[in-house]
Formats: sequence, C-alpha cells, structure tokens
Amino acid sequence: MNELTSEHYVEGLRKAEELGIVVGDVETWAGDYFDHIARGVTTMNTRSVNSAVLPLIKLYGDPGFSFLELGQGVGVACAQVRAAAAEGSRIVSTARTPANPWYVCNITMKRLMELLNERMCEPWKGGELTIVQWLERVERERFEKKRGADTFSLEELFDLQRDFGLEIFTVLDEDSPFLDCCKVGDLPEDSLPEGSYKMVYENNGPISKSPERVRIVSMVMEALDSDGVLFLSESTQGGVALGNELREGGVLEDGDLVISLANDLSNEAGATIIAKKDSPLAVRMREHGDDCEFGGVFYIRDEIVYQQVFGVIN
Ligand SMILES: C[S@@+](CC[C@H](N)C(=O)[O-])C[C@H]1O[C@@H](n2cnc3c(N)ncnc32)[C@H](O)[C@@H]1O
Repeated sequence: MNELTSEHYVEGLRKAEELGIVVGDVETWAGDYFDHIARGVTTMNTRSVNSAVLPLIKLYGDPGFSFLELGQGVGVACAQVRAAAAEGSRIVSTARTPANPWYVCNITMKRLMELLNERMCEPWKGGELTIVQWLERVERERFEKKRGADTFSLEELFDLQRDFGLEIFTVLDEDSPFLDCCKVGDLPEDSLPEGSYKMVYENNGPISKSPERVRIVSMVMEALDSDGVLFLSESTQGGVALGNELREGGVLEDGDLVISLANDLSNEAGATIIAKKDSPLAVRMREHGDDCEFGGVFYIRDEIVYQQVFGVIN
C-alpha cells in the first residue's frame, strides 16, 4: 500500500457512512480535542488494548461475543479485539471523532520514534531535508505549541509509510472492516450505539474524568448483557471511589462486583472492572471471596488469583 493519503482516509469515512458503518454526523465533531484527522495521531489516541481484556474475550469466546469501546480514538484497541475475538463477533465503538473502519494503525508513536531514530540521516521529502532536520522542525513546533506532544498528522504518517516502507497503517478489504459500527456522538447526551454487549471497554474515554460518569456507567449497565462486564483501563478511576459513587447512584445491583486489577497484571496502569452478577468474572471472583474483598471492592493483586479468575489457568 504505497499511495495512502489522508484524503483516502476521509473518503473511507464517507464510504462507511454510505454503508451504515459510521453513523451520526461526522462533520459536527471536527473539533474534538483528540481528533486524529484534524489534530493528529498521538500516543493518546493509539493505545493498545489492555492485555487483561484478551483472556476475558476467551472466557466468552463464542460467535455471540459483542464488544463496545467508548472513545476508540484511531481504533487500535478495537482492531486488536477484532483479531482476537471469534469469527462472527460484533465490534462497535462510539466517540466524538469517527475512526476509518478499514485503516488499522499497527504502530505506537513511541515505536515510530524509535524507528525514525535509526534512520536519522536519511533524506526525506524529495531530498529537501533529512529525518533529523525534519524532527528538529517538529520539536520546534511542539515547543512553540503549534503541535501537541508526540503528534503526527495523518499526512506525515502516510508520507513516512510510502517513503520508508514502514507499515504504519494496514488497509483491510472492504468486506472485512474491524468495526461493525462506529457511532459519532457525545456522551451522555447521545445514546450508545444500538445493541447489547458482553463487554464495554474504555481507556481514557468519556467516562474517565467526567463529572457525569455515574450517568454514563448507568447507560452502559443497561446496555450490558446479564453476564457482561465494563472494563475501565485506568487505575485513576479509583475502584473504591467509583464503586461508592455507583452504589450511591443505585447503578449496581446485588451481586454486581467492582474489581480492581493491579498495574503489573495488565499492560497499563491497572484497571477497574464492573462485573455483572452472572458474568464469568464475577462467578470466578466470588470463589476467592474473603481473600480479596475490602470495603466493597475486590482487589486482584496476586498473579495466581489473576490467572484463575481470568481463566488463564483453571
Ligand atoms: C484520549 S482519547 C483515547 C483514545 C483511545 N481510547 C486510546 O486510549 O488511545 C479520548 C477518546 O474519547 C472520546 N471522547 C472523549 N469524551 C467523549 C464524550 N463525552 N463522548 C464521546 N466520546 C468522547 C474522544 O473522541 C476520543 O476518541
């Protein structure tokens, strides 16, 4: 794929609208702070899925698995879930800026910088300047606050892909998008994409830091199947505080569990998981009961407990 451009990326969004994959008004949301189309691709909109999600997908592991991400950014996590989930699974997202459902971003911006560091002296942009000179320009723009930290425009990424043979984006066939639906919307004012889900996932999305987080979680609990889970990939959610807010808000039912996962057991800053009473996670967690429960939150700090509860070992 040598001829990719940001125009192709946007044309793909139009095509996805025609096919009913992207729903909602694409134009309205061009001002999203994390908008990867107008503002650029960064470490903050290309995060990998939390590694603890992958064993959970296996616990559900049938063709009826359905996954909703809140705030998918470029869609890296959704594409990884699509690759890990059984054929026939439904992968859906909602955010202020839509993701092109065929363009899979394969590389973190950190890794891209490492690759560029190895090629500092190579000429770029038709010999106009070397990579190191270009990066100096980028740094200056960051310093002058003309661009955010680690931010590259889509156009720059496609240019790097073409000129250096890096596979930054892979483009999927039209009949196999990694998203079945991507709703453009603003939570909690807009509704969630239609349907019910086994897993709702968020990493620094609309629930995170929102004063309306109880209202959004309440919408999510309605949309979850009776054996579903809400997976928040951020320890800053603070399991105890969130659990208390949800209980006081009447959002949790008897038997629903708030589970806090330690940082070193997942590839990120830990996780807070709201597990519905009949979810495989809640059923397994209850077996560990008193060992793990403090103040209404179940803590998983131990590798063996993690492996048992997440089905890595039985
Ligand atoms: C910081 S980016 C995170 C992207 C991705 N989850 C990641 O970790 O790389 C925030 C994402 O949440 C979305 N978002 C933030 N607030 C939102 C809201 N109130 N309603 C819908 N989407 C929202 C943004 O559009 C964006 O996709």
